[in-house]
Amino acid sequence: MMKAWRIHSFDGTYGMKMDEISVPHINDDQVLVKVSAVSLNYRDKAIMDGTYGIKFEKGLIPVSDTCGIIEKVGKNVKKFKVGDRVVNHFLSHWMEGEAKSNEEQFSYGGPLNGGLAKYIILDENSCLIPPKHYTDEECSTLPIAACTAWYSLMNVGGIESKLKSNQTVLIQGTGGVSLFALQISHSIGAKTILLTSNEEKKERLLKMGATHVINYKTHNEWEKEVMKLTNDQGVNHVLDVVGGDYINRSIRCSHTHGHIYMIGFLKESNAKINLFDALFKRINLHGIGVSPKDSFQEMINQLSTNFIFKPVIDTIYDFDDSIKAFQHLSRGSFGKIVIKLN
Ligand SMILES: NC(=O)c1ccc[n+]([C@@H]2O[C@H](COP(=O)([O-])OP(=O)(O)OC[C@H]3O[C@@H](n4cnc5c(N)ncnc54)[C@H](OP(=O)(O)O)[C@@H]3O)[C@@H](O)[C@H]2O)c1
Repeated sequence: MMKAWRIHSFDGTYGMKMDEISVPHINDDQVLVKVSAVSLNYRDKAIMDGTYGIKFEKGLIPVSDTCGIIEKVGKNVKKFKVGDRVVNHFLSHWMEGEAKSNEEQFSYGGPLNGGLAKYIILDENSCLIPPKHYTDEECSTLPIAACTAWYSLMNVGGIESKLKSNQTVLIQGTGGVSLFALQISHSIGAKTILLTSNEEKKERLLKMGATHVINYKTHNEWEKEVMKLTNDQGVNHVLDVVGGDYINRSIRCSHTHGHIYMIGFLKESNAKINLFDALFKRINLHGIGVSPKDSFQEMINQLSTNFIFKPVIDTIYDFDDSIKAFQHLSRGSFGKIVIKLN
C-alpha cells in the first residue's frame, strides 16, 4: 500500500485528500519510481480548481513534475536500471519534432497520474537522468517551467530565432517559467528586462543578473518604458505569460522580426491582436505547449556543462503539508514551490 494525495472534487476548495491505495503495477515498458520531490505549476492548481479547460476523473493523483528513484523496471526496459534517479518528461509521448494534436492526452498530473504519491509509474521513454549536481528538489523543478523557457528561447523557431548574446529579452513576471528564462538569458550574456509588481522582488531580480526591471503596477504603460530602455529599438524576444491585452503591448515594444512566445494567460485567454503593428513589425508569434523530450535532454546536457545556474526554489513543503503548498502557489511565489517526500 502507499499514501497518495487524490483529487475528489474539482471545485476550487483544494479538494484533494491523502488516501491509502495499492502500489500501481508497471507494464513491460514502464518503471516504478519512488518519488522524492515534486514541484508545483499553475496547471496543477487550475486542474484542482476545475478551471483548466479539460475535465479529469475523480481520484486523479495531481502534480506534473516529479523526481525520484527507480525501484522496479519492466521486462523491456533497456535504458534505465533500479537505483537510477530520474525526472519525468511531462508530455510523455512527444519525443521530438512537431507535436501531434493529442499530446495533452498523455501528460502526467492529468490525465495520467502525477507525482503527489509515494510511487509514480513512468514510461521508460518519458524518463531522463537529471543533472548530477542538482538536489532532488532542484531536479523536480525542471519538467514544465524550465523546459518551457528553454524550448522558447533555444529551440522553437530553429537556429534563426535562437536567443543570441547580443539580443534583449522581455520577461513578464517572477514565476517559475520567468526566472528560468532570466537565468538562461543571463547565462548566454543576453540583456533582460523583467516585469514585476513587487519592489522587493525587483532587488532580487537585479541580483540574479536582470539588466532592467520595470514595476508594471507603477508603470502602467510598461511597453513605453521598454522602448526607452532599448533606445527605441525594442526587444528581440518576449516571454508572454500574461496574455490578453499584453500581446499587443508585447508587439509594440518588439524589435522588427521579434519573437513573442505565447505561454500563459494569467490575465485573459482572449486577445484582439492589432494586425497593423504585427505585420509592419514582421512579428513571429509562437504558441508554446511545453516542449518535446529532445529539447529537455538538450537542456540537461547544457546544465551539466555550460549553463551553470541553480533553480530558484521559494519554499519546500513536507508531503503532509501539500495543501499548504497549493495555497502558497495561489498567493504567488518567487520561483518554484516544491514538496518533498521522505
Ligand atoms: N504554455 C506552456 O507550455 C506553459 C508552461 C508553463 C506555464 N505556463 C503558463 O504560464 C503562466 C506562468 O506560469 P508560472 O508557473 O511561471 O506562473 P507563476 O509561478 O504562477 O507566476 C506568475 C507570475 O506572473 C506575474 N504576473 C501576474 N500578473 C501579471 C501581470 N499583469 N503583468 C506582469 N506579470 C504578471 C506575477 O509576478 P509578480 O509577482 O512579480 O508581479 C506572478 O508571480 C501560467 O499561466 C501558466 O499556466 C504555460
